[in-house]
Amino acid sequence: MNIFLGLDISTTGAKALLINELGGVISSATTPLTVSTPHPLWSEQDPRDWWTGMAESIRQALAQAGVTGSAVTAIGLTGQMHGLVLLNENGEVLRPAILWNDQRTGAQCDEMRARLGKQRLIQITGNDALTGFTAPKILWVQQNEPEIYARARHILLPKDYIRYRLTGDYAMDKADGSGTILFDLKKRDWSAEVLAALEIPANWLPPTYEGPAVTGYVSSSAAGETGLIQGIPVVGGGGDQAAQAVGVGAVQPGIIALTLGTSGVVFAATESPLIEPEGRLHAFCHAVPDRWHFMGVMLSAAGSLQWYRDTLAPGVSFDNLVNEAGDIKAGSEGLFFQPYLTGERTPYPDPLVRAAWVGLTVRHTRAHMTRAVLEGVAFGIKDSFTLISNAGLGSIQQVRISGGGAKSALWRQIIADVLGVELVTVNTTEGAAFGAVLLAGVGAGVYKDVPAACEATIQITGRTSPTQATGAYQEYYPHYRALYPALSPEYKAMADMDQ
Ligand code: XUL
Repeated sequence: MNIFLGLDISTTGAKALLINELGGVISSATTPLTVSTPHPLWSEQDPRDWWTGMAESIRQALAQAGVTGSAVTAIGLTGQMHGLVLLNENGEVLRPAILWNDQRTGAQCDEMRARLGKQRLIQITGNDALTGFTAPKILWVQQNEPEIYARARHILLPKDYIRYRLTGDYAMDKADGSGTILFDLKKRDWSAEVLAALEIPANWLPPTYEGPAVTGYVSSSAAGETGLIQGIPVVGGGGDQAAQAVGVGAVQPGIIALTLGTSGVVFAATESPLIEPEGRLHAFCHAVPDRWHFMGVMLSAAGSLQWYRDTLAPGVSFDNLVNEAGDIKAGSEGLFFQPYLTGERTPYPDPLVRAAWVGLTVRHTRAHMTRAVLEGVAFGIKDSFTLISNAGLGSIQQVRISGGGAKSALWRQIIADVLGVELVTVNTTEGAAFGAVLLAGVGAGVYKDVPAACEATIQITGRTSPTQATGAYQEYYPHYRALYPALSPEYKAMADMDQ
């Protein structure tokens, strides 16, 4: 039986996953990674640490499986999106990578809108300029580190730096490429107009490939470092959200992927390059050839619960903390949580917005505060879900929930009740790395196409239907919606005071 290797370079770890062609997990190894914040709003990692960590994880995954590198038929890549990797003419790293959650580029986003016109930018790339995306980061280096910019010759995304170290090729997949917002969304390739407006040389950008297309082969030096063998094909793969969607089978219109990880993502595949006119939803290429997708991203979803537990209930297990909240009525007796701990993207592209509990009384307990966090995240997801439902995609047939937060039955129930729709869970819980593996399987010719790969490996394992609490949440939601416009001017003032 064929074995595929999926490699996921996430913000928190370098993961190597070995899967057989029926979708069975053979082994998985993750080397942890840390983020550095040398200044407020900055978020960086050294790409060389990604490679060291990934080579270690590959060796461990092979050892755990008791196989040698020759057992691997093909490799798929995925990873954190939008991160800027700058290399010189010899492929050497010029500065730490600027990550997806770095918020330093507010001024460069304004400048992009000014140079291209906001509507033209959205028309070409499908997206407004947001601090998370790659293009404003390039502009930031151009303006703030001209001596580094002068030596730059190659621009890559995180997963493509792993590809470069694995194969020696500069290449990128179209799903992740479109997340730079240097892409012409319709053409599924670099936009000459956007590159010219930002004065970025087109020859710094690599050729782009569809997710299952082979972009190169493992080199002999990488084979030596990882335990793989020279010549294994490596496919385009996809950014973590597109690969996650492949990994849960959200590859055709009507199936929504809802991912409750550190961030919360609502993802919908589309058959054509649809655009939300105000750019409130991200519109990118899918890792499935000739498909696109809409996506709403809230930045602190399970990340909110993690922060809350670590800060206010250290030492309490997530299970115990969340179970307490099960005894509290829907709506937390009028207590709301705004989940904007790290600024927000959808529906408010606002790096300065902050989090809050609003409506505390002396009657409220820790259990109410916990429930308000779970509900606040669910309301934030509803914001994205509503935008996607109204984006002209046609009917939603199924919502597939995954990610660490989806393991909580109570949280799944609260989300089903807040959205007023049934949620289903699937058997594949390895996330984006699993999607990368399926793309590798298609590239190797083992599956006919991406939908066939999903069909061969993904099954529904559970269902959570909305209950009568849906009615209560319909009453609470407008009040949650009212909090952002009421409080955002104050958050802006707080950010100014915090300088
Ligand atoms: C998606 C995004 C995040 C990162 C995190 O637009 O920014 O999902 O890819 O890994």
